[in-house]
Amino acid sequence: MDPKQLVADGYDAIGDAYTAQAVEGRTLDREWYLDTLSERLQRGATLLDLGCGAGIPTTMRLAEDFDVTGVDISPGQIARARKNVPNATFVTADIAEVDFPPDSFDAVTAFYSIIHVPREEHYALFQCVVRWLRPGGVFMGSLSASGKGQAASYEDDFFGAPMYWSNYDAITNQRMVAEAGLQIVMADQKTHDFNDETETWLWILAANPG
Ligand SMILES: C[S@@+](CC[C@H](N)C(=O)[O-])C[C@H]1O[C@@H](n2cnc3c(N)ncnc32)[C@H](O)[C@@H]1O
Repeated sequence: MDPKQLVADGYDAIGDAYTAQAVEGRTLDREWYLDTLSERLQRGATLLDLGCGAGIPTTMRLAEDFDVTGVDISPGQIARARKNVPNATFVTADIAEVDFPPDSFDAVTAFYSIIHVPREEHYALFQCVVRWLRPGGVFMGSLSASGKGQAASYEDDFFGAPMYWSNYDAITNQRMVAEAGLQIVMADQKTHDFNDETETWLWILAANPG
């Protein structure tokens, strides 16, 4: 099966269960980085949230202060997000295929989402992020920092559905973001427990130098 279809079908099915855990287990780092991002933006700034999921907790919080567009490949997640965050705009699309005019956004975020995109598409995605950002705009994402990365990994029972991931290691992720044209402001690895496992993420804040 096409891995992207598998991911879309998977999140259609497990969106509620994933979100319930994410609200509990992926909180502390997320809150800190959201504060850090928000401090850099003017109220009303335009923000694109890539792989927004069901819109909680992140998109909802961002939409309190900013003009947010969320994109997700799962129609079920987009339906949940529209209910949860009626004051944001949502698009059902693959973040590696969707397009926006140049200089459209003051910020682009991607929390725990690029890990589900085949890794050979990551660099082109970061190049798109640079193009979509206004000069001085910022990208914030939580990217994989697990070991050496894996071209493809599958699990039969991720919250009850099959799931797919594809990742690079933290150093490669950081290098790709920089080579795509973003200036790294912050790049930290943070570890916490989630879904009965310990996971480490690379949190990146990077700016479009214009
Ligand atoms: C782990 S969830 C993260 C959701 C939310 N960003 C959060 O912080 O909790 C990953 C989300 O990315 C979406 N996703 C995965 N691959 C995608 C793709 N190629 N294009 C758009 N969305 C994608 C999934 O449907 C899912 O909703």
